[in-house]
Amino acid sequence: MERLTSPPRLMIVSDLDDTMVEHRNDNDNHSLLRFNSLWEEAYRHDSLLVFSTGRAKTMYKKLRKERPLLTPDVIVTSVGTEISYGKSMVPDENWVEIMNNKWNRGIVEEETSKFPELTLQAETEQMPHKLSFHVDKSKVKEVTKELYQRLEKRGLEIKIIFSGGIALDVLPKGGGKGQALAYLLKKLNTEGKLPLNTLVCGDSGNDTELFTIPNVYGVMVSNAREELLEWYAENGKDNSNIIHASERCAGGIIEAIGHFKLGPKLSLRDVSDFLQCKSDNVNPGHAVVEFFLFYERWRRGEIENCEAYTKSLKASCDPAGVIVHPSGAEKSLRDTIDELGKYHGDKKDKKFRVWTDQVLATETTHGTWIVKLNKWEQTGNERKCCTTTVKFTSKENEGFVWENVQQTWSEESEVKDDSNWII
Ligand code: GLC
Ligand code: MG
Repeated sequence: MERLTSPPRLMIVSDLDDTMVEHRNDNDNHSLLRFNSLWEEAYRHDSLLVFSTGRAKTMYKKLRKERPLLTPDVIVTSVGTEISYGKSMVPDENWVEIMNNKWNRGIVEEETSKFPELTLQAETEQMPHKLSFHVDKSKVKEVTKELYQRLEKRGLEIKIIFSGGIALDVLPKGGGKGQALAYLLKKLNTEGKLPLNTLVCGDSGNDTELFTIPNVYGVMVSNAREELLEWYAENGKDNSNIIHASERCAGGIIEAIGHFKLGPKLSLRDVSDFLQCKSDNVNPGHAVVEFFLFYERWRRGEIENCEAYTKSLKASCDPAGVIVHPSGAEKSLRDTIDELGKYHGDKKDKKFRVWTDQVLATETTHGTWIVKLNKWEQTGNERKCCTTTVKFTSKENEGFVWENVQQTWSEESEVKDDSNWII
């Protein structure tokens, strides 16, 4: 969060499973990739992305390997009982202290074991401040009431959350996704960085609390679960800051950005002709996101006649500009674009995707920009990632000129093979 020097324009706080990430209808990750392009191009530089998930860190890392998830600024894991910052996920120790208040894991374990209705979830889901079970829906009310009483008698203050029609979590009372968000907002406020707008996004029971935090907009994605919709019918219906989207998962998040007028809502992935859609050109990150999207479409063979586009691209490259591959090999930028011709459609039907993450631009001297990003390429199940640095210069009203591109392997890359490297 340190990278921002002023209040973020927008903070998105989103659940992952069945909200940011589609598990049923969208094997191609279409709506997630649409969100990614929009975020990186229009929001990354001045906004905050927070993921708030029921998953523990290990299971979150697993999901990151399976899906094209962006790197959030803050990650809240294990149903709001852990808060970590940045790419290296530095835990918030202060939050751990808060979670220890009136909590004793051993006692919770002991008391819950007396309920035959509760079946422990896998070991990977059991965390220092979260015990998770499966329970039959018809038993939830009874078990919850009884468990609250027993644990209160033993001096604990806990919270029980029912989600997805089957999962029951026991947490410290001060935990949960809502409390974690309230804590973050307070922290940002003391730093003078309270977001101008906050949008919370969710689909199930453990997301309910997010919608109760004052002054936030909220979207329940169209595929939201019964327990969240029931809460909304009873408590949220009169709140015009909450919508039930008509689109599923990340599509619903984009829909909410538009509905509440929180900023740009058109993902570059929804633009078929980039020449028809020139941006205001204030952020060179836009040029990079657009280029790699073009590159994906080109190799997927989805762009028919794009001579005009490659021509304009070439014109925006400095004639002496070079690209340095991870191997150290160097090529002219303009030659590289010519060379692209050979690769039109070579990845057709190969489940080829390219996405950019953490696109951040800095103006180093007047008119000179450095854009840093991670560029991912996936073919089938094989992924590679390069840390990419692009230098641009800009002249008044003339847009950005690509000066050079430098790429090195990211430590996150699973494959480090640069044979057939193009860009
Ligand atoms: C996630 C967690 C699980 C929890 C559920 C509901 O699926 O992995 O342990 O019970 O969210 O909060
Ligand atoms: Mg969910």
